[in-house]
Amino acid sequence: MNAVTGSTGTGSTVPNNIGVARPRVEGRAKVTGSARYAADKPMRDLAFGSVVMSTVSRGRIVDIDVSAVKDMPGVLGVIDHRNAPRLNPQAGHFFGPDGGLQLLQDDVIPFAGRPVALVVAETPEQAKAAADALPVTYDEQPHDTDFSADHPAARPAPTLFDGPADVGDVAAELAASAVVVDERYRTPEEHCSAMEPHSATAWWEGERLQAIDSNQGPFFIATVLATLFSLSFEQVRVRTEHVGGGFGSKGMCGPQLVLATMGATLFRRPVRVTLTRNQVFLMTAMRPATDQPIRIGADADGRLRAIQHEPVFELSPLADYIEGCTELTKTLYAAPAIRTRLKAVPLDILPPYSMRGPGAAPGSFALESAMDELAERLGMDPLELRLRNEPTVGPVSGLPFSSRNLVACLREGARRFGWATRDHKPRMRREGHLLVGTGMAATSFSAGAFPSVASITAELDDTFTVVIAATDLGTGARTALTAIAADALAVDIERVRLRISDSELGPAWSAGGSRGTTSWAWAITEAAAQLRDRPRDPSRRVTVTVDTSELLNDLPSMERHAYSAVFTEVTVDPATGEVRVRRLLGMFAVGQVVNPLMARSQVIGGMIGGLSMALHEEGVRDRVSGRHVNADFAGYHIAAHADVPDIEADFVPDYEPGIPFGIKGAGEIGNVGTAAAIANAVWHATGTRQRSLPIRLDRVLEEQPLT
Ligand code: MOS
Repeated sequence: MNAVTGSTGTGSTVPNNIGVARPRVEGRAKVTGSARYAADKPMRDLAFGSVVMSTVSRGRIVDIDVSAVKDMPGVLGVIDHRNAPRLNPQAGHFFGPDGGLQLLQDDVIPFAGRPVALVVAETPEQAKAAADALPVTYDEQPHDTDFSADHPAARPAPTLFDGPADVGDVAAELAASAVVVDERYRTPEEHCSAMEPHSATAWWEGERLQAIDSNQGPFFIATVLATLFSLSFEQVRVRTEHVGGGFGSKGMCGPQLVLATMGATLFRRPVRVTLTRNQVFLMTAMRPATDQPIRIGADADGRLRAIQHEPVFELSPLADYIEGCTELTKTLYAAPAIRTRLKAVPLDILPPYSMRGPGAAPGSFALESAMDELAERLGMDPLELRLRNEPTVGPVSGLPFSSRNLVACLREGARRFGWATRDHKPRMRREGHLLVGTGMAATSFSAGAFPSVASITAELDDTFTVVIAATDLGTGARTALTAIAADALAVDIERVRLRISDSELGPAWSAGGSRGTTSWAWAITEAAAQLRDRPRDPSRRVTVTVDTSELLNDLPSMERHAYSAVFTEVTVDPATGEVRVRRLLGMFAVGQVVNPLMARSQVIGGMIGGLSMALHEEGVRDRVSGRHVNADFAGYHIAAHADVPDIEADFVPDYEPGIPFGIKGAGEIGNVGTAAAIANAVWHATGTRQRSLPIRLDRVLEEQPLT
């Protein structure tokens, strides 16, 4: 009997993989095209579904004239509310039952873009031709898609997280403040816009439903799908091999999977549903519009007395959701009085859901813009204002911080950026006709882990098979988990084989909420520790399986967050209103960095998302029809290469106590903070505040266009 450590070395001779920059393990498969995404897998007898969307924002279906298309070439049939399989209305996501899942169940139209039929045919072209030709008539009813904070239907948001905060006497502290900023900030509807459109292929193998789907967590999606179709969990298997980005929109069971399952059920053959780009915009999760009144009061020396932040966001009556805009407000700065309230306005829109730094991204735009305005009115360096209000404990919770390296991010970022020489007065720099300005913002994003199950098998050839239902959205999860497993096992990385992306591999948290790597790493680390401790007969395979549900309960309650500081320089053309980001620098404290190459890529991607949010992204609705008018990449602008300057991103030393390997998660924080930093830089360049995103040309333009 050999202890596994005896046969594999003590660890001291094994290279430490965590912290080493390595290219992604599936990189070769991706660049050679052998990596298969959900829509790529060849399959015998495959049929294709094309989705028909409602063109009205509210009303009822009067008729769907199936006879008009049923004899078109290749058409197998049409599924609508009259023949669709019945779904369980209790099925839902994190916020309870989700009416967004209840597709083709009745004649009610709750929003424009709602699927009303699925046409199934032998080829994608035939399905699309028939879907385009399918006559649908509606009884159109008045809709309401006009978001405003003063909407009479506004109601308190659900309080599952980011609930109301009440510390101190906000009114008294504001009254006693030397300076008060009292402004409101707005962000529009934004779309996740992952490069890979949502696609699912479903088929039955006997009594077992099989699916290949583009999502952020096959285990969770399989549980939702099972509930929705009233199946036992064992009857459902969802695989998610490679995913071309999700940004939140693939965190939930998508319409492609619900409809493909219906197709497979009715036609008893594999059915693939791939959304068009336009459908991705209109029927997969978007960020809700927000309107955020905020008041901050401070003494003349810059010490905060009160923060009052009461954001309003839109949602759909079909499903609850929380755009947690006030999370940062409760943790970023010390203030004796803090009041937060989240309100939601139900409208006839697609149910909003998590997108790129959910809550924190729009919330930080408000908070960090208001902080910059406060610095302006105090005549203070905005960096100094942040440093002066560094809390020692959670300002609302009173809990200690697990590790808080915001100051290190601020100072190191300022040093590298050359902030010290900045003249804080606006509109002082010109280069030719361009105005030049700099701005900064501080940021956090909550950190933590959720229960997951991992198994590790010691194989007979002295390799290790690590199994967990993780997902790699393209962020490098495979690469990170391989390194983590190698270090946890104290073996060479080549001896680790990783299996992920399959609901059969056991319960696991999804790739979301900046908690994927942390949650999975925990389970893998614990399984490795147990395997190493186990006396072992080298002639037998041995498998250890660990569920972290209990372990997580032992994690002390603390304020756990990742932090960053973002600095930027912009130019503004006052004649055209064009803002160009010239420099962008982010310093991050995200716990131990597992793979600096991939982590840097992740946070740079996030900062580009923030730049895009600042300057470009906006879902525009036609007020008369209630429909989005720019639901494609021609109309919905996302930062392109030409918009993105050389970005500098780096990490300060950081380590999360209590979490294996000190990991915090770097998934979302890159998105947060950048928009405010850019808006603050635009003010510094022009002297005019931009309180609504995106900072469009028409919002910046100073000269009247030629008439
Ligand atoms: Mo993230 S927006 O939770 O995928």
